[in-house]
Amino acid sequence: MPAHSTVRIQLAERSYDILIGHDLLDQSDIFKDLPKASSVLVVTNTTVAPLYAAKVQALLRNQYQKVDVLSLPDGEVFKTWETLQLIFDDLLQKSADRKTLLVALGGGVIGDMTGFAAACYMRGIPFVQVPTTLLSQVDSSVGGKTGINHPLGKNMVGAFYQPLKVICDSSTLNTLPAKELSAGLAEVIKYGPIADLPFLSWLEANIDLLIQKDPVALSYAIEKSCEIKAYVVGQDEKESGLRAILNFGHTFGHAIEAGMGYGQWLHGEAVGAGMVMAAHLSKELGFIDQNYVNRLVHLIEKAGLPIVGPVLDAQDNAGRYLELMRSDKKSEAGEIRFVLISGKGTAFMLPAPDDIVRKVIDRCCQSSQ
Ligand code: NAD
Ligand code: GLY
Repeated sequence: MPAHSTVRIQLAERSYDILIGHDLLDQSDIFKDLPKASSVLVVTNTTVAPLYAAKVQALLRNQYQKVDVLSLPDGEVFKTWETLQLIFDDLLQKSADRKTLLVALGGGVIGDMTGFAAACYMRGIPFVQVPTTLLSQVDSSVGGKTGINHPLGKNMVGAFYQPLKVICDSSTLNTLPAKELSAGLAEVIKYGPIADLPFLSWLEANIDLLIQKDPVALSYAIEKSCEIKAYVVGQDEKESGLRAILNFGHTFGHAIEAGMGYGQWLHGEAVGAGMVMAAHLSKELGFIDQNYVNRLVHLIEKAGLPIVGPVLDAQDNAGRYLELMRSDKKSEAGEIRFVLISGKGTAFMLPAPDDIVRKVIDRCCQSSQ
């Protein structure tokens, strides 16, 4: 049996395991231990279905009699009410009941939408995550944030709803395009400055191996990321405080995604450029020095991510960023609260004066103006 590691999310009666390893989807009993179900619906998309749906369906058939596959259109632009409705349509047409199990097979878009569908259908049915992108294996499949986008804001409609299990088969990353791997590396990199400086040093030493999809390096990075996320989510499931640090770079990043139009910049790319801005802001406010900013920017660049943000408005670019960031979920009464880093492997949230934020945005979008 191929080796795998297990990271446990400790949330009382909602606790669950994340299984991490290479070729996990070659284990015939990988879905054992799941509860009885009247039927199973594997929700995936048109890109992932031809790669892995038949395999996952066959594995589930070792356990369950009725296993169907629903293939949705692919892309962040489809993370909408309309696509969510396709899941409900399919469940109702198939007479799915409260004992139906949903299996999310794909990246973060599929995972977030399927989890939200599971949270809502008949007021809640069980679901399992089978993430197939690096980003979803290190972040989105873990911790129970589910939802969809609204034209006015990223992930603005959703629910906290935990899966029963997460199965991260790192061999699925073999088919992942390089650009998507880099996007996942953004969420891996964030864990270093916010929680674990030795991990940041490990990433600096191993970034080339990660880019080459070295299985040992990837498995370690996934495991370490999930361990950090498990700790944070275990302390603060519903983001009343600590969990917000996982959004390092995301306040700027979400503005880029919404401002450019969903799907124009990958989520991870926006987070990459967003972390550069958040690092500069941390420096401007006196929490870190320029050397540390340079170190992070260098790593983000080596990961194949953009380090310069896009211009969202030719007349008042910083103003447009600020406008979009005021609707961030961490904002309070219109005051933007940024995730900032200390340089000691910790992060915290603070507001920042508009003039300093403008200065940072002007600098970080400078070369594309
Ligand atoms: P994605 O789901 O769009 O997947 C990226 C692309 O890779 C898609 O085209 C997909 O079809 C394709 N793909 C997936 N697996 C593949 C494979 N093994 N081989 C080849 N192609 C494959 O994007 P993502 O980066 O996985 O996730 C981004 C989404 O995750 C965003 O919507 C973001 O908001 C969300 N997110 C959620 C959380 C959370 O906590 N819930 C955290 C971070 C990000
Ligand atoms: N990706 C941020 C969180 O899960 O809280």
